[in-house]
Amino acid sequence: MHFDKISKIKGELKLPGDKSISHRAVIFSSIAQGKSVITNLSNGEDVKSTINCFEQLGVDIKNDAGRLIVEGKGLNSLSQPKAPLDSGNSGTTARLISGILIHQKFRTTLIGDDSLSLRPMKRIITPLNLMGGKIEASGNLTLPLKFSTSENLVPINYELPIASAQIKSAVLLSGLHLNSDTTVVENIPSRNHTEAMLGLPIKTDNSKKIITINSSFTPQVKEYFIPSDISTAAFFIVLTLLSKNSELLIKNVTLNHTRTGILEVLRIMGGSIETVALHDAYGEPYGDILIKSSRLQNIKIDKNIVPNIIDEIPILAVAGAFADGGSLTEHAAELRAKETDRIKAICYNLTQAGLRVDEFEDGFKFSGKLKNKKFGLKSFGDHRIAMSGAVLSMLNNSGGEVEDFECVNISNPQFLKQLKNIIRS
Ligand code: S3P
Repeated sequence: MHFDKISKIKGELKLPGDKSISHRAVIFSSIAQGKSVITNLSNGEDVKSTINCFEQLGVDIKNDAGRLIVEGKGLNSLSQPKAPLDSGNSGTTARLISGILIHQKFRTTLIGDDSLSLRPMKRIITPLNLMGGKIEASGNLTLPLKFSTSENLVPINYELPIASAQIKSAVLLSGLHLNSDTTVVENIPSRNHTEAMLGLPIKTDNSKKIITINSSFTPQVKEYFIPSDISTAAFFIVLTLLSKNSELLIKNVTLNHTRTGILEVLRIMGGSIETVALHDAYGEPYGDILIKSSRLQNIKIDKNIVPNIIDEIPILAVAGAFADGGSLTEHAAELRAKETDRIKAICYNLTQAGLRVDEFEDGFKFSGKLKNKKFGLKSFGDHRIAMSGAVLSMLNNSGGEVEDFECVNISNPQFLKQLKNIIRS
């Protein structure tokens, strides 16, 4: 896909619902007893994978004029799927649903696409095995996963070895099925949608966060409005900041504090980003974001904020390429376990753009000047690398080409249409 240099950005955007919140709204509605209604759900392929899995497990899910109606089966009435459950490209689907599948009275197999089949599953197999779950994985502890029935499931007190909302959520979803309390201890904060949306009790002990899922807890039916995805908004935010004479208002974006690190970092870099019209729904805050052209300066990023901005590091690297000073990203080894090895992908594309780039195990650094030629970039089949490549190209005088661009459908199938509405000559 070819992208020309753009002149400026002006206007207002409404974006689809946040992917992480959408997955959880579908999952929690499916295991609540009765009807839930979800509006502004993410329309990406990843959330479709979650919907397909729960339909295969016997949940009745319908689209009614843009609203998703989920007739939840309650915790113990899912039915045996006729074929393996397919998580597609979605790590969140595979890891969260595993916490539910170990409790079923039937066997299931969980599969995914080529990218997901390479991603690490040991991180959820270990705690779910400790709870008595019977999971057989393929050689490298990757998908496909085979779940057998187990009579001896027990609660655990689990300290997360890495900051991961997917591991935390798998353990909490498993704990939801048990007769005594399960706790998860978190040392470095990860996104908190599971505990916030379920309203779970939280304690803090020094800098540790302790989340308990109480034995008497049952998920409730709800009306969910899904705030727009801040990780999707991030591409438009960076594009607006770095384009001259530009101003953009993005409506109803999630402002959950475990996700707004991208705004904090860009503001410290000098970005003009205001949040206005704040609201709250079922524990999830959201509001409008007003962005204006700004001159950016690279900064040192604090280690503890890395999990908060982990999905935005590819687009932050693009911001860094146009900011003053060299750029350094460290403590981000988790980027290698995403839809592609994002450290390798970022380094490849920035090198293609003419920068001097050094790759390390947990990050990268770069400096130098962008070349004044058309960039030839790759998506590596990863939606966030593809959209970062598009923004990098639209800010380059000679534009650029991004190979395999269609993977944007994973999180934002309307990306090109949204761009068209806000680009001005
Ligand atoms: C997600 C958690 C994060 C994030 C992913 C979505 C979630 O992954 O990168 O895109 O919805 O729980 P980890 O849990 O592996 O950090």
